Amino acid sequence: MINLRINGDMRAVDVPGDMPLLWVLRDILGLTGTKFGCGIAQCGACTVHLDGIPVRSCLLPVGTIGERAITTIEGIAETPNGAKIQKAWLDLEVIQCGYCQSGQIMSATALLNVTPNPDDADIDAAMAGNICRCGTYVRIREAIKQAAKSV
Ligand code: FES
Ligand code: FES
Repeated sequence: MINLRINGDMRAVDVPGDMPLLWVLRDILGLTGTKFGCGIAQCGACTVHLDGIPVRSCLLPVGTIGERAITTIEGIAETPNGAKIQKAWLDLEVIQCGYCQSGQIMSATALLNVTPNPDDADIDAAMAGNICRCGTYVRIREAIKQAAKSV
């Protein structure tokens, strides 16, 4: 049995330690907001936070997480920057098909956690690993700037 702290709750899961966290979230715990895109850490759709740091859950063995706090898209609105990012996403209608957007929001929130007023270069560097097939990059950049200005 593996104990995980997810969005503030302790969850016990009976899975092999080498199972990727993404599988545990989606298939075992029903937290389907985190998406499967590539499965090889190349698209960012599966991004979650470990102690506030963005990680790709598709390649993260669940047995290596230990005590670190997992935050998913289902819990990000409970964090101050996550709430600001989600509001800006809605205000600026960032989302197109939506498939990549959980990962985009997780990476954007992590950026604001360490860089409260990011410039274009900061945003490009932080978001480079999140692919959007719908091409919402311009609105993502504007939404991050709006969230950074909001109180
Ligand atoms: S599904 Fe994990 S990075 Fe693409
Ligand atoms: S909104 Fe469609 S892939 Fe990003």
